[in-house]
Parts: sequence; C-alpha cells; structure tokens
Amino acid sequence: MTTKDQKSGGEHGFARGLTNYGDRRFSLYLRRSFASSMGYSREMLERPIVGIAHSASGFNNCHRHFPELIEAVKRGVLAAGALPVEFPTISLGEVFLSPTSLKFRNLMSMDVEEMIRAQPMDAVVLLGGCDKTVPAQLMGAASADLPAIQLVAGPMSTSRHRGERLGACTDCRRFWQRYRAGSVSEPEIDAVEKRLASTAGTCAVMGTASTMASIVEALGMMPAGGAAIPAVDADRLRMAEETGRVAVSLIGDDSRRPSAIMTAEAFENAVRVLLALGGSTNAVVHLAAIMGRFGLKFDFTRMNALSDTTPVLVDLKPTGDAYMEDLHAAGGIPAVMRELKHLLHLDCRTITGETVGERIAAADPWIDRAVVRGLDAPIRADGGLVALFGNLAPRGAIMKRSAADPALFEREGRAVVFTSLADLAARIDDPDLDVTADDFLVLQNAGPTSDAAMPEAGYLPIPAKLARAGVKDMVRMSDARMSGTAYGTIVLHIAPDAASGGPLGLVRNGDRIRLSVRDKALELLVDEAELERRRAEANVAAAVPAKPARGYARLYDEHILQADEGCDFDFLRA
Ligand code: FES
Ligand code: MG
Repeated sequence: MTTKDQKSGGEHGFARGLTNYGDRRFSLYLRRSFASSMGYSREMLERPIVGIAHSASGFNNCHRHFPELIEAVKRGVLAAGALPVEFPTISLGEVFLSPTSLKFRNLMSMDVEEMIRAQPMDAVVLLGGCDKTVPAQLMGAASADLPAIQLVAGPMSTSRHRGERLGACTDCRRFWQRYRAGSVSEPEIDAVEKRLASTAGTCAVMGTASTMASIVEALGMMPAGGAAIPAVDADRLRMAEETGRVAVSLIGDDSRRPSAIMTAEAFENAVRVLLALGGSTNAVVHLAAIMGRFGLKFDFTRMNALSDTTPVLVDLKPTGDAYMEDLHAAGGIPAVMRELKHLLHLDCRTITGETVGERIAAADPWIDRAVVRGLDAPIRADGGLVALFGNLAPRGAIMKRSAADPALFEREGRAVVFTSLADLAARIDDPDLDVTADDFLVLQNAGPTSDAAMPEAGYLPIPAKLARAGVKDMVRMSDARMSGTAYGTIVLHIAPDAASGGPLGLVRNGDRIRLSVRDKALELLVDEAELERRRAEANVAAAVPAKPARGYARLYDEHILQADEGCDFDFLRA
C-alpha cells in the first residue's frame, strides 16, 4: 500500500520519530532488530503502523471484552495493508477509583497524548468506553493531533429480575431508593445486586459512557452507527474491524486529523445531539475539556440557546424508559441525527470521509418511534440540559431538566446546608435533621478544587425520614457532579466551587435561594453586605489548607481548572 507519507518520502512505521544520535541507519537497524524479536517478518516491519491505545484492566469490568475487540481491529488494519500494534494506557474503571475517576481523567489524557507521540505510529485507534476513558483519549488525541479514530466498548445488555428488565445503573438507584424506603427486602436487594450488570460493556442506559459514545459519533470521530451497538453483539466486532480499516485510510490525510474533524461546528452538532438525548451532565465538563485542547471555549449561553431549540427525542433511562440496546435496534445515533437534520451543520467532515449530511442521507430511513421520537412528538420540546446563572453561580451551573421534576422548577426554598461529604454522611439520615420536602439541600466543598475532587455526589440522598414518608424528589444543589444514570431536580457544577472561595461556600442554614429554570437563574437571596461579612469571616476562620506535598495530587492541586473550563489542567489547554 502507498500512503502520502511514503509518497512524500516521509518516515512511517518503525522508522517514525527515530532517535538519532548521529547515525540514523544504525538507529533504524537497532529498532528493527528489537521489533524482529517479536516475530514480525520484514514485510510487516516495513508497513505503516496503526497503534491501538487500549484501556483494558482488571479494574474495569466495562472493558472485559477488549481482547476480542482488539483482535478485530487488528484484522481490519492488516487487511488494509498496515501493521497493528496495540499498547496499554491507564484505564479508569468508574466505580473502582478513589476519591473519584474524574481526578485521573487528565492523567490518562497525558498518558494517551504522550504515548501516541513518543511511540512510532502513523495513526491510532482509541479503544475506551467507561465514563472518563473516552474523554481522556479524545483530549490526548486532540493534543497529539495524529490521525485518530475512536472505538468504544458498546453498552451492556439488560438482564431480568422478577419479570422486570434491569440495566446498570438507573435501575440500581430505583431499587436502592425502594430499599431505603423499606419497600424492597434485604434478600431482594441482594438478588438485584447480582443482576444489575451482567455482561461486558458500559452502563446500559444514557449515562455518561453512552452519552460520550454518542457525542463522539456526532462529532464524526467514529464510523456511523458506532456508538450504540451492544458490547456483546457481533456487529460490535464488525465495527472494530471497520475501525481498523478506516484508521489505515487516515494515514497521511491531513483533512481527517482530529483538529480537522473536531471543529467548532462539529462541537455544536455534538451539543445538539447531547441535548436531544437528554444526555449526561458530565458531558458538559468533558466537552469543555476537549474543546479547550483546541483553544475553543464551551459557551453556556450558547448551550442554552441551542437547548431552547433542540427537542429531547430519545426515550432512554434516566430521562425515559428504554436502554442503549433499544437505541441501537431503533436506528442508533444516525436515526437521531436524521431527526435533527435541520439543526445540524451538515457540511462537517467525518472520520470516514463523508460529511454529516451524506451520513444522514445514507442512514436507514426506518426508525423505531417508541425509542427515537419524531419532531412532531418529542419527549420534551426543549433540550435536556440547561445552564443556570446568578449570584450563587457566577460562572454557571448545570441542571438536567429532562430528568428532573418540572413541579420544582420555579421555586424559592430554605437552604439546609451540608459543609462537606463527611457532614452529609453524618447528618442526612438523622431523625432530628430540621428539613422538609420544600427545603433545598445544599452541599458545599465537593467541587474540583476540594479534597473530594468533584465526585458524583451531587445526587444527594433524600433524607431518610422524608424518603419513608414518600418524598421522591426535592431541590438539591452542589459544586459536585452527578452520575449520568441518576435523576432528580439537581443543580450541579456550581462554579466557582466552594473550596476556591465561590459564593456557594457562603450559604448558611436558613438562607433563601431562588431557582428558576425559566429564567435560568440561581440566586442566593442574601444581600451583598451580609455576603461580604461572611466572606471576611470565612477568610479569618479558614486555616490555610495543607497542600499535597508531592506527586500527582500536587500537580492536580496546582493546575486544576473549574467546571466551566472542563476541569482540565491549565497547562494542557491549547
Ligand atoms: Fe463503566 Fe458505567 S461503570 S460505564
Ligand atoms: Mg457513570
């Protein structure tokens, strides 16, 4: 095969980026002899190389089928005339990382970026899936800007419990809420625990992993239909093979580098799709981070404008009823983009060479309307997410209105404040807690600059005494995040966060707060003089927090940005 690199006489394959201490031919001879020790023939050693950056790990259940996917990618690469070389990067198994996976997303992005750059490869397949892995890979690939294509794990398949379908992890929460309220027994919750996640693949609903996969398809960074194919389906293996073939076609083609595909218009397409999916709030953080790698800014005001004109069309949990496998069967992301056609930038180029408009024209016109609604019968007339602003969130906050209770959208409430995660854990179920269903639960010090590092703690539990009395939802707010599989009237990502001196830290028990989704407002109804007094008091009281002495924790502490900037490190942005 001939690539542009070869035609132009540029280096490719094992000759790429050779360290040269004066005798280049010696360096190549040495490198090839070491590569030969892996059993490659000379013909293979002279081929261009497609790296496969994979994130399989014993601590990542979602990626347990990666060996099989990697084999299929390799098949595609070999068939198209290049040499596939897999390499591991760190993995981020969502539920196994402490204090939270987000803390390590930037570390993984640095691993991906540097290993793409340091090792000899002409293009790279990014193989991820679990929540933070795909954004980390895209951030790294964006900065390296070598031809790259994304392959995802695909969603888990659902299982059954007493005639009900179960899928991680919206159903996890539903059953746990019933258990907390006393209507599900101990043996039953044990049985559910074993059935919630029963195949390889990512969470089965429109959580963060599914949302990010869908966004990557909308961005054009994977072949059409690649987001929703179940992990265990044979189509997933065929998608892997196709991904390998496409990766080879990218070699030497500057018009399909990450920077040429992920343009400002492509990001707008991604936001439209995010809104139409009722997708995860985490996607806003990740999109802001990926955009920052290209010097682009995620604009909340623009997101609100897009949200006002983008209907929610996809009926998946936690917003609706279905699961990712149903979305695949219904036509997948191509079906969603077809419905949104009039709202998208159709001339954006995708990784397979065709434009978004050409992809939509080629999509199967059959759509399962139970899962992907038409514009005439949307789930909501406006988008799933909304950004809120006000004196409590000067740099914005996010709410997933599609998974919230509209009866709570225009409210004024009394603040019941928890100053930290430890305080929350200690008091939320206290029978003497002074709280009613009309109050607003406020959690402080769980943002990116806190020790907690912005965990998915924003889904504050309903106080036990209210849960037992039948309360299912109440207004909750914090500088934390929330799992994409969770639901409720919950304000997240309040920026700047409390630990960095943001106004959220000045809220006191009994303060009045106004939430208005209509006005996109989040106001602390305390006058500025009183806030100034509290600020001065806090500054006197605050002991200078101990800085981490060394290592990654120190890097994180010194360079982490706020949520509106994607929680990237300042020095990693373009
Ligand atoms: Fe991996 Fe949910 S735990 S996607
Ligand atoms: Mg999640």
